[in-house]
Amino acid sequence: MTMRAFIAGLPKAELHLHIEGSLEPELMFALARRNNIAIPFDSVEAVRAAYSFTRLQDFLDIYYQGANVLIHSQDFHDLAAAYFDRVAQDGVVHAEIMFDPQTHTARGIAFDTVISGLLSAMEEAEAKHGITSRLIMSFLRHLDEDDAFATLEMARPWLDRIEAVGLDSSELGHPPEKFARVFAAARALGLKSVAHAGEEGPPAYVVQALDLLAIDRLDHGNRSLEDAALTARLARTAMTLTVCPLSNLKLCVVDTMDDHPIDRMLREGLRATINSDDPAYFGGYVADNYIAAAEARGLSKDDLVRLARNSFLGSFLPDDVVADHL
Ligand code: ADE
Ligand code: ZN
Repeated sequence: MTMRAFIAGLPKAELHLHIEGSLEPELMFALARRNNIAIPFDSVEAVRAAYSFTRLQDFLDIYYQGANVLIHSQDFHDLAAAYFDRVAQDGVVHAEIMFDPQTHTARGIAFDTVISGLLSAMEEAEAKHGITSRLIMSFLRHLDEDDAFATLEMARPWLDRIEAVGLDSSELGHPPEKFARVFAAARALGLKSVAHAGEEGPPAYVVQALDLLAIDRLDHGNRSLEDAALTARLARTAMTLTVCPLSNLKLCVVDTMDDHPIDRMLREGLRATINSDDPAYFGGYVADNYIAAAEARGLSKDDLVRLARNSFLGSFLPDDVVADHL
């Protein structure tokens, strides 16, 4: 059996996926045409050629620009439906999907337009592929606290359809403490929470995410390994890390895949998982991420099974449903 067949055959959950980051250039062009939006590229090949990044901000600039073609509820539906159709081939049976409402509300797109399109695709994916899913509403950390509070307010009519809040965008200079109050408000409304930390930012940002945001799950977390006490704390508390190998490579968090710390994370007892982050921009969906990490770091079949099991243990599914997946 090939490595791809083995990995695709492992039922898995994807826990770190930005739905806007699954916008493939072909769909970007189709939506630009459908919605009469000008995009600064002549061809699908030119779009892909522009995806060369040296740091997170290079990527974010082009990612926010790409999202401009998303206007109608049907566009958000088509975006998410394409993601589910693609990952059904990768053995994904559950996905916890981040969306960035502020990327759209700042352009005059209604919150309800965004979420209704995503939710209808999620319902369709369960019927069509048997893939269950949850939504994580992420706040853009380069914007201010008031903007995050306003977004939480817009989400109120939809709270029973949103599982958690998240924190993404430019990490350096935007520490978790900036959002301590809005995360507390979200928690009071019954939402769980996740945050990107330790991707480009220092271990101290991970400590803030734990202590000040009370996160239930850590997105990336790579730089935690620079701090032995923090690493031990993450292991002791069974904190799930949603690691994204191809993203780490494309955004120069690691110089080569051979330097990726995924096996070290497992050896240190961390509950690491493998995810795709922004698959249309980073060159691969979740199975590609498992393969790239496995080949570079010599992961065993037991390691791969462990990573897939961790994805359910770290999910927000109820315990009895998690147990059914293990
Ligand atoms: N938004 C989308 N992908 C992201 C990433 N890898 N880090 C921070 N913000 C993001
Ligand atoms: Zn991310």
